[in-house]
Amino acid sequence: MKAIILVGGQGTRLRPLTDHIPKNIVPLCGAPFLHYPIAQLKKAGIKEIAFSVGYKPQAIRKVYGDGRKLGVKIHYALEKEPLGTGGAIKNAERFVKGSPVVVLNGDILTDLPLKKMIAFHQRKKSKATLGLVRVEDSTAYGLVLLDKGGRITRFLEKPTREESVTDTINAGVYLFEPSVFDLIPPKVNYSAERGLFPGLLESKAPFYGYVWGGYWQDIGTPRKYLTTHWDILKGAFPLPVKFRKKGQVYFGKGVRLAKGARVTGPAIIGDGSILEAGAQIRPYTVLGAGCRVKAGGTLSKSVLWDGVLVAPGIHLEEVVLGQKAQALSNLPKGTVLGDGGRM
Ligand code: GTP
Repeated sequence: MKAIILVGGQGTRLRPLTDHIPKNIVPLCGAPFLHYPIAQLKKAGIKEIAFSVGYKPQAIRKVYGDGRKLGVKIHYALEKEPLGTGGAIKNAERFVKGSPVVVLNGDILTDLPLKKMIAFHQRKKSKATLGLVRVEDSTAYGLVLLDKGGRITRFLEKPTREESVTDTINAGVYLFEPSVFDLIPPKVNYSAERGLFPGLLESKAPFYGYVWGGYWQDIGTPRKYLTTHWDILKGAFPLPVKFRKKGQVYFGKGVRLAKGARVTGPAIIGDGSILEAGAQIRPYTVLGAGCRVKAGGTLSKSVLWDGVLVAPGIHLEEVVLGQKAQALSNLPKGTVLGDGGRM
């Protein structure tokens, strides 16, 4: 079996973090995001993947190349204009022809067991199967309703609380038989959620939902991106790269802590980062490589990309600072600085 990962979106809700790179490769606890879905696919024995790219494709290619370093084969299906989620799937068809295919939204972190979903799909002789997850507040999402046998009966867009008869939403994980590609018009912008799925339902083809009760999170907003870090630090996912673990703190190579600097885990301190005298890293903080926290700086529940500078005595909580950003003052909670930002 092969896979398609949708990685061509502009990630506008994560701006300015996505000014220079697509959201699919933002760092997450020591590795670009796509490391996680790639590991998930490998676990299910899927080693040939088509990335459906559009926005800043070179940045993705620079990280993943042909996939060899991660033990997979990666193809790139490039769109000149955004084709939407459905059009992007169709555009990658040539790389996955002839066998069922797993399709992933490239901004979802989930431990949904693909092997079990594939077995379910085969057992039901399904044409298309959507991975579904339960969320606490389903009013912000499109709901998917099922009958007792797991067959999809209805889609309900952003329901009111009264209408929320179910809490299962589209997880952005799909399994398609090859014939599904025939339902998508080529070379036009077309939505999987608004076009393909309602069309499948109408066609009365065997169309099922596989419900998963485990971890699921999309990283598409700064708040969700931060939350995902905290979840991983709580142990929701294994870290994708090796660190030296001391207590609950993960250290990269060549980290330097001056006298009186303190790290309280869970936290990650990336390669070559320097904590000056009295600097304090509090729980749920992740520093990339080559960061410098000057004397007395305090960080809590924050994410710093590589090469970030925190000026002396600055206190930061729940902020995200892009590559080589500089925090020169106490920033309000929720601040997001893009690459090279200074504030
Ligand atoms: P926002 O602009 O913040 O809404 O993000 P987005 O453009 O990435 O859209 P969304 O979160 O709905 O995308 C879900 C997944 O589909 C992401 O992994 C996107 O990269 C991908 N995606 C969205 N639109 C397209 C598209 O037109 N082409 C391709 N290839 N991928 C897309």
